[in-house]
Amino acid sequence: MKKKKSLSSGFSFTGAVWFFCLIAVIMQMAILIYDYIRERTDNLTWIAILILIEIVILATFCTIIDWVRRKIMVDKPTKKILDATDKIADGNFSTRLEITHEYGKYNQYDLIMENLNKMAIELQKNEVLKTDFISNVSHEIKTPLAVIQNYAYLLQDNTLDNETRKSYAKTLISASKRITDLITNILKLNKLENQEIQEKHEIFNLTEALSDSVIEFETLIENKNIDLNCDFDDVVIFSSKSLLEIVWNNLISNAIKFTPNNGKIEISLKRKDRNAEIKVADTGCGMTSETGAKIFEKFYQGDTSHSTQGNGLGLALVKKVIDILGGEITVQSELNKGSTFTILLKDVVYEN
Ligand SMILES: Nc1ncnc2c1ncn2[C@@H]1O[C@H](COP(=O)(O)OP(=O)(O)OP(=O)(O)O)[C@@H](O)[C@H]1O
Ligand SMILES: [Mg+2]
Repeated sequence: MKKKKSLSSGFSFTGAVWFFCLIAVIMQMAILIYDYIRERTDNLTWIAILILIEIVILATFCTIIDWVRRKIMVDKPTKKILDATDKIADGNFSTRLEITHEYGKYNQYDLIMENLNKMAIELQKNEVLKTDFISNVSHEIKTPLAVIQNYAYLLQDNTLDNETRKSYAKTLISASKRITDLITNILKLNKLENQEIQEKHEIFNLTEALSDSVIEFETLIENKNIDLNCDFDDVVIFSSKSLLEIVWNNLISNAIKFTPNNGKIEISLKRKDRNAEIKVADTGCGMTSETGAKIFEKFYQGDTSHSTQGNGLGLALVKKVIDILGGEITVQSELNKGSTFTILLKDVVYEN
């Protein structure tokens, strides 16, 4: 909701008193001059000429006073605002306007200046985000591209045996998959941030949806000989199945990625009144509280030993989805012991 701005009514008591005194002095002067002329002559032509001169002098005086007032009250702040907008239009987003009146006594110009300052701050923030984003994406693309170039070059060697050729081709496929995954995640995140993905709500069985996601990772889990434990209540919910799939896939893939061979993963689904609580716990590398505070940021990767597997966008996507669906995500973790991600989906449980 928009905050109501504090704007003085535009009526200044001191200004009004000054204006009143000025008019009174001018009127008084006009009367005095008229009396002065009348005392000295009865010639109507002279009286008319002198009154005309009097009117011209007083009108010029008023015009000068008004000109000075406009210079100070209107032209000065307008020029200040114009200079600032010129600078902002030229891309200088660090421009700020100094507001002279104190808060609560703002006039219209002060409010325009305040809004311009807010606009410049937002533009500056966006500029930083854009630059960071471009440098992150370029960095993430550079490594797999270098791999592709190197291996494509090596594959040109006709003397290569079949085994080596196959292994080079595999490396090429995995590097190009990294780029594809990166672009897919960026596009998904972009769509979510721009609210282009409509969260199509439907009634579905969350237990089945979670089980389906787990089954997709069966081979990976078996390859690492991970002991998987699932404890699911039977829960039917009204929410977005496709958006939640992004959540399950990222949490489970992280648990597998950051858990060493022979580790343990526990996934649970509990119904809590009208809420559903999902936990994904692992006995993996865990993280420090400093790392935990940053894991939902785009491109952040805490565990450098796994940085080649992924781009640090998974949890940013998860957080965005949970925010859109009005849920909560928390993480408890201890370095070298493991992590537990908890998702609370509020007011989603469906009952016939
Ligand atoms: N289960 C986990 N155990 C330990 N650390 C984790 C776990 N899940 C996430 N992290 C930390 O959070 C960081 C961010 O996770 P995120 O899923 O966003 O990125 P990623 O898995 O590195 O890459 P991507 O998801 O793009 O493939 C990870 O790099 C890791 O440091
Ligand atoms: Mg991930």
